[in-house]
Amino acid sequence: MDFGRIRRLCALVLAACLFAPLPLRGQDNNDQAWLRYAPPLDIDLGAEYAQMPPAVVTLDSSAVAASAQQEIQRGVRSMLDRGLRVETGIPNYAAWVLGTSGELHRAFPQYQAPAVGPEGFALEPYFAKGHTYWLIDGSDPRGILYGTFHLLLGMAQGQSFASMEGADSPAAPIRWTNEWDNLDGTIERGYGGRSIFFDHGAVRSDLTRAGDYARLLASLGINGCTVNNVNADPRFLEPDIIRELARIADVFRPWGVRLSLAVNLSSPQTIGELDTYNPNDPRVRAWWRAKIDEIYAAIPDFGGFVVKADSEGEPGTSKYGLTPVAAANVLADALRPHGGVLMYRAFVYNNHLDWHDRKADRARAAYDIFHPLDGQFASNVVIQIKNGPIDFQVREPVSPLFAGLRRTSSAIELDVTQEYMGQQHQLVYLPTQWQSYLDFDLHPEDRSAPLRDIVTGKTFHRPLGGFVGVTCVGMDDNWMGSDLALANLYGFGRLAWNPDTSAETIARDWTRLYFNDDPTVVSTLSRMLMSSWHIYEDYTGPLGLQTLTNITGSHYGPAPQSQENNGWGQWIRATHTGVGMDRTTATGTGFIGQYPPEVAQMYGSLKTCPDNLLLFLHHVPYTYRLHNGQTVIQEIYNLHYQGAQEAAGLVREWKTLRGVIPPQPYESTLHMLEYQAGESIEWRDAITRWFRRRSGIPDELGRVGRYPDRIPASQMQLDGYAPVAVHPWESASGGKAYVCENHAVCTASTKFTGPAGWYAVAVQYFDYRHGVSTFDLMLNGQALAHWKADMFLPGDAPDGSTAVRCTLHGVPLRPGDVLTVEGRPDDGEPAPIDYMAIVPEAQEKPTE
Ligand code: GCU
Repeated sequence: MDFGRIRRLCALVLAACLFAPLPLRGQDNNDQAWLRYAPPLDIDLGAEYAQMPPAVVTLDSSAVAASAQQEIQRGVRSMLDRGLRVETGIPNYAAWVLGTSGELHRAFPQYQAPAVGPEGFALEPYFAKGHTYWLIDGSDPRGILYGTFHLLLGMAQGQSFASMEGADSPAAPIRWTNEWDNLDGTIERGYGGRSIFFDHGAVRSDLTRAGDYARLLASLGINGCTVNNVNADPRFLEPDIIRELARIADVFRPWGVRLSLAVNLSSPQTIGELDTYNPNDPRVRAWWRAKIDEIYAAIPDFGGFVVKADSEGEPGTSKYGLTPVAAANVLADALRPHGGVLMYRAFVYNNHLDWHDRKADRARAAYDIFHPLDGQFASNVVIQIKNGPIDFQVREPVSPLFAGLRRTSSAIELDVTQEYMGQQHQLVYLPTQWQSYLDFDLHPEDRSAPLRDIVTGKTFHRPLGGFVGVTCVGMDDNWMGSDLALANLYGFGRLAWNPDTSAETIARDWTRLYFNDDPTVVSTLSRMLMSSWHIYEDYTGPLGLQTLTNITGSHYGPAPQSQENNGWGQWIRATHTGVGMDRTTATGTGFIGQYPPEVAQMYGSLKTCPDNLLLFLHHVPYTYRLHNGQTVIQEIYNLHYQGAQEAAGLVREWKTLRGVIPPQPYESTLHMLEYQAGESIEWRDAITRWFRRRSGIPDELGRVGRYPDRIPASQMQLDGYAPVAVHPWESASGGKAYVCENHAVCTASTKFTGPAGWYAVAVQYFDYRHGVSTFDLMLNGQALAHWKADMFLPGDAPDGSTAVRCTLHGVPLRPGDVLTVEGRPDDGEPAPIDYMAIVPEAQEKPTE
């Protein structure tokens, strides 16, 4: 089984398998994700579950209810090794009875159905004819299915029946994922393999994975899935593709997941052969009406459209001097008779901003454009707003637009795929971040209103609203390219159902369901998950610097200068004296003034502005003192060192789970975390070096730019390796990498001069997207380690995105020993290296 794209970074040639593979209870079929239905560990509970009814009857005839019935049979078989008899009417003995409230009432006239909201359910025992019937009462068929999953996932976590009883319903009607899949099978910002829907310009013939995915979504209560890239290819509206899309809708339908599409506003012209796509043109309106009728003829439960327009080169109404209302309402009016919704994305901004204009501010765009239009949108339009005003950065303030739309429904768009968050090569558990947004009180109209109440429609009494997760799952066994990244998809679903759920509860539940309920696993992994966002923030973009990544390229490695001096507006305005965007109303861009007064006041004053957003909102001198007493520059240094140290701690924590997590996910996750620990050092060094040069202010603790344990390749004995300049310079020692070109093999050697003892030896090298160079590390000519540069990192040059560190612990060294790295290039990847680090370890051989 392929456990994703994280492979062994470096392997000790002499390493023995230190633990025998035990028959562990845990993840062995990771495409099932949290639906493994492992038998309960607890014997008492096993006994309680053994009392459960031996039969199931389903009163509802829908395909969704049939899925519920199959699911309860499947779950009970898997967890208890028992079959459930299927009855067609209420039997004269105990049974599970699945039905809508009305159907249950007809079967049991005395039964009083509890009040539950749309798509909600109640699970309760009911006594009749001397028997106990367990009712799964849905307010509609989806409710039946969601109630069934509630039962099974509760059992899978060892909950008693009594604790699972009760009613529940989703907080909001819109609970969708957006997949950014292209017809050719690639996925924009997808890190889990190729599309489960499309391949070679068509819908896949085998849609098994699409059906499995719908089951996963349904288990969380997600009821919609937009299957194509928001940068929408107009061909998705061609008649032959619509017919094919109906096949995807067919595999979604039994799981209550409605298919929806991202559409390109220029479609009437590009595929409809009109000479315009102006939504005010009657021919264009007629085209959309006919197209929507055609879609509903093929897909009667079609969910609606998602629109990205006037954004990052996508066509929009601005071409005709019109606002988004014009297009949104034309599409919405045509969708409404069929029950469809129109999700119009607020991610609209000018990506050709003038860097020299101190008032220009991308963060302002969504509010400036959409706030004046509040109240003009049709009732089935939902404005889909990214959580922050920029673009899924490691930390942003909540978008002020959420408080700026009071007569328009809105939904929050969250990034489940980790585009700016380590691209599934690093652990970043996002529900902690999302919870911080959802809990944030925007204080509209001088009253308290956390964001979660606004997006569910509660605060402004909106009929629609909810949650959209940009998910981008792929064909990889574990859907997302990393086992731990699945916690983000699970967490998204849980928060979309109930945004009051704590991130910690979600982390614990996911761990139990995905791995096992061993208390050590649950407490260790949930602690790791809970700390991971802050760790990542510390070494990538603390103090509100957003993400200091390569913004014009891979969105992955460090490249702070790339933020500046371009039209994209993700500026940090780092000068020689200070840093940060002045977004105040008094002297800056005025962005802060878009918030309701209470929030504007808090953000506007340096006294009350939280440190973790300071540089997003203010420009301050490097010597400005934070609330904790540190200067800004020193805190930038400190947090980067702290983040890298904590990333190394994640490796240590994970290693304590060796033997209690099944070998394959254990190993693949270990390699991911080891890689992350190395990449956090790369980030730390690049960012601190850059700020050191920019500010001219040294690190009080003398760490930045001084690496006493390192031997850069420039100081090694080289055979074949030659220097090349690295861009940006801060990504490698002295701004140079050493590459092996025109040679089959190159070497770099160093003589060890320190005292005898145990050392960790690290080799910093670069692993391009293409080519699989091989490396050997030798001690006095004897092999220590051999590894391949075979990760799929985003880049084909030596820089912070492709930097990788291979660390060997417990290497016994004596003065005069010679350490040699031998690199063999492959397919244009010239086995590039940066440095070797030799770090003393405790005299005792480390136990880990
Ligand atoms: C980001 C991302 C793009 C995406 C865009 C969007 O900018 O990098 O790939 O198209 O968001 O949300 O529309």
